[in-house]
Amino acid sequence: MQIDVFTLVPHAFGWLTEQRPLATVLGTEIDLRLFGYRDSTPLANGQVDDAPYGGGPGMVLRVDVAAAALEAVYGGVPEHRVIALTPQGRPLTQAVVEELAGEEHLTLLSARFEGFDERILTHLCSDAISIGPYVLSGGELPAMVMVDAIARLQPGALSEGSAERETFSAELEGGLEFPHYTRPAEFRGWPVPDVLLSADHGRVAAWRREQSRLRSAA
Ligand SMILES: C[S@@+](CC[C@H](N)C(=O)[O-])C[C@H]1O[C@@H](n2cnc3c(N)ncnc32)[C@H](O)[C@@H]1O
Repeated sequence: MQIDVFTLVPHAFGWLTEQRPLATVLGTEIDLRLFGYRDSTPLANGQVDDAPYGGGPGMVLRVDVAAAALEAVYGGVPEHRVIALTPQGRPLTQAVVEELAGEEHLTLLSARFEGFDERILTHLCSDAISIGPYVLSGGELPAMVMVDAIARLQPGALSEGSAERETFSAELEGGLEFPHYTRPAEFRGWPVPDVLLSADHGRVAAWRREQSRLRSAA
C-alpha cells in the first residue's frame, strides 16, 4: 500500500517512522512518502498560504499551492482517494480505518493555521476526515494517527492474533477489550483476579468475554 502525505512539516514524521508497528511494515506492506508543499509551490520565497478573503485572522493554505503539489507528484488530481484532514471531516472510526486499509493508494493532505482554501476540499480531494471533535494546530498529528492505525492492520505488523481480539474488533462484537494484568500477582493489596491465575483456559476465556460485554454495555 502506498500512503502519500502532503504537509508543511515533513520532518515531523521522523519519530513515527522509527516506531513499531509502522517501522515493521515500512518498505514491505506500506510505502510512506512525505511531500512538503514548499518544495513544489509556484510562489516566490516558499510561500504556501495567504490571508483570507473577507478578512479575519490567520492564513489559509492556497489552492494553487495544493494543486501544484499534486501536479508535481501525480501530474494532476490522482484517481485514488485524496483525503483532506480537517476537524470538519467525517469522523475517523475503526470501521473507517479498515476501509482505508483496503486501499492500494491513499493521499493525505494536511494544513495548518486557518486550514484549507475551500476549493482544495471541493475540487482536489475526494474525502475529508476528522480524528475527533476538537481542533489541533495542524494536520500532521491526524495524518500520523491514520498512518499508525492503518499500519497495525497490515500483515506482519503485530504479533500473531493481537489485532483480531482487541477493542472494536469483530471478535469482541465491536465492543471493548477485557482488562489485562501482569506480574506481580498482588501489589499494595491490589490482587489480580483469581481466574487469571487458575490456568483454566475455558474459565479465563469465559471471564474475558463477560468482562468485555460488561465494559461495552457500560
Ligand atoms: C487550526 S486547524 C483549522 C481549523 C479550521 N479553521 C476550523 O475552524 O475548522 C488547522 C489544521 O489542522 C488540522 N486539524 C485540526 N484539527 C483536526 C482534526 N480534529 N482532525 C483532522 N485534522 C485536524 C487540519 O488539517 C486543519 O486544517
